Amino acid sequence: MIHLQDVTTTFGEGENKFTAVKNVNLDIAQGSIHGIIGFSGAGKSTLLRNINLLQRPTSGKVLVEGIDLMSLNEEELRAQRHQIGMIFQHFNLLNNRTAVQNVELNLKFQGVPKRERRQRALEALSVVDLSDKASAYPGQLSGGQKQRISIARALVTEPKILLCDEPTSAVDPRTTASVLQYLSDINANLGITTIIVTHEMNVIKAIADKVSVMEDGSVVEEFELRSLKEPGFEPQTSIGRYLISDEISLQRRNKTNELATSVFA
Ligand SMILES: Nc1ncnc2c1ncn2[C@@H]1O[C@H](COP(=O)(O)OP(=O)(O)O)[C@@H](O)[C@H]1O
Ligand SMILES: [Mg+2]
Repeated sequence: MIHLQDVTTTFGEGENKFTAVKNVNLDIAQGSIHGIIGFSGAGKSTLLRNINLLQRPTSGKVLVEGIDLMSLNEEELRAQRHQIGMIFQHFNLLNNRTAVQNVELNLKFQGVPKRERRQRALEALSVVDLSDKASAYPGQLSGGQKQRISIARALVTEPKILLCDEPTSAVDPRTTASVLQYLSDINANLGITTIIVTHEMNVIKAIADKVSVMEDGSVVEEFELRSLKEPGFEPQTSIGRYLISDEISLQRRNKTNELATSVFA
């Protein structure tokens, strides 16, 4: 249902020209949870923002449910964007608005009347078990609660797609599990196609059906997470193997080590 075709995104011009996303082809199945993993600077956020044209690709095509987003005018694009929610690493909540006001905001932009807005915002807050925090300001909430508010804010427009940019990178490990549990439940109960960008393999392992590995702007490999359980399965690329290993490995150096010998001889 989401189909990226030869998507390339370039920033700057001349000497400063930099290609952050290079000829990416990606198919994301309806109702699935798709991970995009890679190191910092790989182009993950840019690629994610290409899906709702928050960052318009320099070339290529973005098809969502068969609709070519790049061919739409502003008004048509705005209508399509209501179907695509987004959450961010640092939550992006307005600190001078309460939780329920933050959640309502997207409906306000859509021109939904005040009473209906409040009603729907409270329903979205109940999905993430935060009805009792409706009147709290972001400053009074924990990181996990703030991320759940931002999930409610994304859900309130009843999107078909949820884009998540490092949704757990600013919270502690226990909160990570809770945020992922909400995203998993929402995917299962509401059938929302979910795309999660992260640099953490444990996040992908916990929640994704399929993962695309990015390096230097390209998708270098893709595999289904269930393959990891198959005996003998190994990612094809060294970065893929590194990312699934989950370990911090340091080279052990001693005097017989070539490097050590040459330096200390
Ligand atoms: N608006 C921009 N202008 C110039 N360069 C950018 C811009 N956005 C991202 N980049 C560059 O593109 C590369 C990929 O960035 P990004 O998509 O944020 O990677 P990731 O999310 O994987 O860390 C980085 O080198 C970054 O500096
Ligand atoms: Mg990023």
